[in-house]
Amino acid sequence: AVERTLSIIKPDAVARNAIGEILARFERSGLRVVAARMVQMSTEQAESFYAVHRERPFFNDLVGFMTSGPVLVQVLEGEDAIRKNREIMGETNPKEAAAGTLRHDFAESIDANAVHGSDSPETAEREIDFFFKADEIFSR
Ligand code: CMP
Repeated sequence: AVERTLSIIKPDAVARNAIGEILARFERSGLRVVAARMVQMSTEQAESFYAVHRERPFFNDLVGFMTSGPVLVQVLEGEDAIRKNREIMGETNPKEAAAGTLRHDFAESIDANAVHGSDSPETAEREIDFFFKADEIFSR
């Protein structure tokens, strides 16, 4: 089915000038960018976006990292978009990410891991609503 997913190009990948290459990989795989905006998240925003991880030991580092510089938030649309985006990204830990995946090619550590992508349809809906209003999404 055609789905939408939220993608974030994280501060490390923005800093290494990789926005274009990452978007090109999404596009080459058949995903379409139907919304996009550059933002520097506040601490409150990052804590709220990642609230599901609040009790995890890495939570403070995660919030610190995600607020350390601008990110590119996007909505990707396409057939099986949630799973397809996760395949393109690779494993969360770049040390475990397969060759040719974004995290293998662009990420340095499990914290600075280049990209975020929604992990389920329910999460995708919540995460898209978190960043975008309906009239900011330009579906085909
Ligand atoms: P992301 O997909 O943005 O979702 C939560 C982030 O927490 C994850 O990518 C990682 O960058 C970061 N993180 C740090 N340590 C861990 C861990 N042990 N397990 C999962 N995510 C982690």
